[in-house]
Amino acid sequence: MNAKPETTAVLDVAELRKDFPILTRRVHDKPLVYLDSANTSQKPQVVIDTVSHFFEHSNANVARAVHQLGDEATTAYEATRDKLAAFIGANARDEIVFTSGTTQAINLVAYSYALPRLGEGDSILTTQMEHHANIVPWQLVCQRSGASLKVAPITESGELIVEAFVKALTPDVKLACVTHVSNVLGTINPVRQLARECRKRGIPLLVDGSQAAPHLPLDVKSLGCDFYALTGHKMLGPTGTGALWARREHLDAIPPFFGGGEMIREVKFSGTTFADVPHKFEAGTPNIAGFVGLGAAIDYLNDLGMDRIAATEHELGGYMAEALAGVPGLRIYGQAPDKAAVFSFLIEGIHAHDLATMLDLEGVAVRSGHHCAHPLMQFYGVPATVRASLAFYNTREEIDRFVEAIAKVRKLLA
Ligand SMILES: Cc1ncc(COP(=O)(O)O)c(C=O)c1O
Repeated sequence: MNAKPETTAVLDVAELRKDFPILTRRVHDKPLVYLDSANTSQKPQVVIDTVSHFFEHSNANVARAVHQLGDEATTAYEATRDKLAAFIGANARDEIVFTSGTTQAINLVAYSYALPRLGEGDSILTTQMEHHANIVPWQLVCQRSGASLKVAPITESGELIVEAFVKALTPDVKLACVTHVSNVLGTINPVRQLARECRKRGIPLLVDGSQAAPHLPLDVKSLGCDFYALTGHKMLGPTGTGALWARREHLDAIPPFFGGGEMIREVKFSGTTFADVPHKFEAGTPNIAGFVGLGAAIDYLNDLGMDRIAATEHELGGYMAEALAGVPGLRIYGQAPDKAAVFSFLIEGIHAHDLATMLDLEGVAVRSGHHCAHPLMQFYGVPATVRASLAFYNTREEIDRFVEAIAKVRKLLA
């Protein structure tokens, strides 16, 4: 994890694990070791209870009813907007657009912001280490507009080549896009520096914060970017929740992405006027209970403290790196010095899927595959890797069990 003050205390993990009921589960008659938090995080009891409590006590649609339940639902749903705005350091709650996740947030920017501004000869800049969610929407709007996609390169150790990124910020670039933390490599990109370079040239910067929001203290104002996308299910919240943060001037300037109920001021057949920001981007009935649950997740993260979460994961990541260094024939993809606790690797002679399947039989949940990052796999010339990703609720004992399980599989397969 990125550099933390040495004094930041780590969390009492044994105690807080009691908040996560799923962590006591057994899988294939072994205690579960969940090392797939980059895929989706586990949920504390308070999030589960908040969602059930909502359905049991306050379930109603938001912003449509004057009755008590409608009021309770709207209050609880809108409270999450305040919590999320504070959590990421936004200037105002109106800068938070609720989406179903990062993918929808990025598509909103692609179709509402980028597409109308793109033409022949223009380009969008992305990087070699992006998730498909930060590649494919750009390809689609490029195809429609005649613009092209430029790709900033990375080093063999999985770090963005910043000079090349900056050099690529030529006047044809109408938007630059980068992940804050790589979901495959764990690399933490120097977003503040990239945003500064983009701003100097008047190029807006979109940051994919999917893998940063659950792990790092965030302040979008000080990052200096224009758009920040995040997903709720990776930060202890329910699936189908997420958000786009954007500078108010962008949100005011761009048209809605989806049309329908909830996002209008007045509809006439001669023309429709739209609700104020952010509601003009939120057509239809949202995932109300999910967002109420996300509010509880944010409270939970705040109670633990994002700097203590970061310090805990940093320490655990160091332990994991050392443990994996002792495994013969294991190669880690992503060797940036201050990286997040995400470890993609291959072991000589063992296919990624075979390894993940055998680890599952030992109760260890890891992900194998391309991690929605084909171009990154192509860069390394591999079809797939195994990825073990940590969260603050993991322990050293779990890492020991993981490494013991790898040793067992190596004996059988390598
Ligand atoms: C870096 C990154 N970007 C985008 C996404 C897409 O998030 P979602 O599927 O929640 O929209 C993910 C999810 O794996 C991710 O890791």
